[in-house]
Amino acid sequence: AWICSIRDRLLSWYAENGRDLPWRGEGDPYRVLLSEMMLVQTTVAAVIPYFARFLERFPDVRSLAEAPESDVLKAWEGLGYYRRARQLHEAARVIVARHAGVIPADAEAVRALPGVGRYMAGAILSFAFDRPEPIVEANTQRVLARLLAWEEDLKTSRSRERLWEAAGRLVPPEGAGRFNQALMDLGATVCTPRAPACLICPLSTLCEARRRGIQDRLPVAAPR
Ligand code: ADE
Repeated sequence: AWICSIRDRLLSWYAENGRDLPWRGEGDPYRVLLSEMMLVQTTVAAVIPYFARFLERFPDVRSLAEAPESDVLKAWEGLGYYRRARQLHEAARVIVARHAGVIPADAEAVRALPGVGRYMAGAILSFAFDRPEPIVEANTQRVLARLLAWEEDLKTSRSRERLWEAAGRLVPPEGAGRFNQALMDLGATVCTPRAPACLICPLSTLCEARRRGIQDRLPVAAPR
């Protein structure tokens, strides 16, 4: 019942309050791959103009795969974290070579792409293909840690496993993409690192940290 309430309330909240971002909506896997690669360690506001320009220059996987690396790096210039651009380019080449230019909807094949880790695979599979795969990243892990009142350092493997497991149980069998984006938006706009806005949070009455009054102290990220 707790899980169903979380899903229902979060999705209702998202319908009214979700961010309208240029890579959302159509569920085009290439746009999901590109945006997630750009969003690593980079803010939404910084990515938006790059995303539009990059798509104009390289509108699909094949055009990206066939471009010289120097052109790809040029389109990435200013975004930083250039290893990401090289991995994206390499991923596009692998998609052309092994998957006929079509981004695979299969978990194993997606995870085998260069630069695609657990989070990125979950993002592609859920956002683009609506597969019920969880995502755990900075925003969602904070929401989950507070919902569960998880008081251990999030960097430990035990914490990571616990949060991935919780995210996996929460993600609905249908509409996983919307659910995951909603969880991310809640973390980005309401369940913020400092001074979370519990008064307007759709999940506040379901939140264990809030019940105990410890939401300001969570999540714990001890320096190592
Ligand atoms: N950060 C990482 N991925 C994101 C996404 N899809 N939307 C907003 N912020 C993000």
